Amino acid sequence: MRILGIETSCDETSAAVVEETGSPERPWLIRSNVVASQTAIHREWGGVVPELASRQHIRDICGVVERALDEAGSTWSDLGAVAVTQGPGLVGSLLVGVAFAKAAAAAAGLPLVAVHHLAGHIESLILHNGELPLPAVVLVVSGGHTSLYLVASPGAYQLLSRTRDDAAGEAYDKVAKLLGLWYPGGPVVDRLARDGNDRAVALPATRLTHADRNAPELKGDLDFSFSGLKTAVLRHVRRHAEGRGADAPLDPREIADLCASFQRVVVTTLVDRAFDAARRFQAKSIGVSGGVSANSRLRADLKMHGELREMPTFVPSLQLSTDNAAMIAAAGLRKFRAGVTAGLDLNADPSLPL
Ligand code: KG4
Ligand code: ZN
Repeated sequence: MRILGIETSCDETSAAVVEETGSPERPWLIRSNVVASQTAIHREWGGVVPELASRQHIRDICGVVERALDEAGSTWSDLGAVAVTQGPGLVGSLLVGVAFAKAAAAAAGLPLVAVHHLAGHIESLILHNGELPLPAVVLVVSGGHTSLYLVASPGAYQLLSRTRDDAAGEAYDKVAKLLGLWYPGGPVVDRLARDGNDRAVALPATRLTHADRNAPELKGDLDFSFSGLKTAVLRHVRRHAEGRGADAPLDPREIADLCASFQRVVVTTLVDRAFDAARRFQAKSIGVSGGVSANSRLRADLKMHGELREMPTFVPSLQLSTDNAAMIAAAGLRKFRAGVTAGLDLNADPSLPL
């Protein structure tokens, strides 16, 4: 069976066709995965402008879906279902995908499957690597989320911890912005950090010990917090600006050092927390997915610690790390096989829980 996946939760319009293989180890095969990125539009504003995003999704969605079907050699009649991201994300953006998927499912007489965006990011690990050894600890780290899950059986996700404030990707984007770098900041900071000294600037790493009042069901000591780190970077830049005039507070060497130092703290925090959770829950593997899993240091450090501690670690391919519809299609297939479909009264939910 083939499924069409649609993803429009933020600033990527994406459609993909994914096929079931029948193999339990590698359940899905990507037939096409088309992504129309809006970064060039939002860059001018230094971040995603929701109203511009939803308008661009409307312009792109038909062409992106047609191309995904074309590249897969598929027609509407050889699809078995349509899967779409229901949330979380920007409500105007989500609505475009949800409305399109409902119309398409109704017109083609296909079942509709509603997918949680983070279930998609988790599924990207399986798309690329096959089923992970379970139980697994999975860290989803993106522009909107930094959350640790325990996956005890395929498709069952137990939230272990999350960020109390900024997501890791958001911290990357904000730090890049205050350094006058491009949007999205993650890839730029990652690149500049390679030439920097990661011990040049002393930045704080936040370690939480107490439960979050807003999530008392979680113990809290595996939680993340990145806003203090971002403020420390801001203070560092301001201190330098005082002596030199605000136009060029830091020279390229200092920027590289600051990027490397910031990245060391973020990556160390993410990796340490994931391994702590794996130890605590006796996980047989660790997976890291979401936009920030494209980070070169995160990939390298995860691999190194995994080898050192004899823990298998997994990341998606670079293309499957950032937002794409193949992961939504795959998560949709899993849900469809579990017998869960949605009605035509489906609505976008910007804060959908997993
Ligand atoms: O998963 P994603 O495409 O969208 C969300 O669901 O948020 O993640 C986008 C985030 C952005 O914050 C971006 O700066 C970050 O992922 N990102 C990176 C890298 N590539 C993308 N962060 C660090 N290093 C990278 N190489
Ligand atoms: Zn995402």
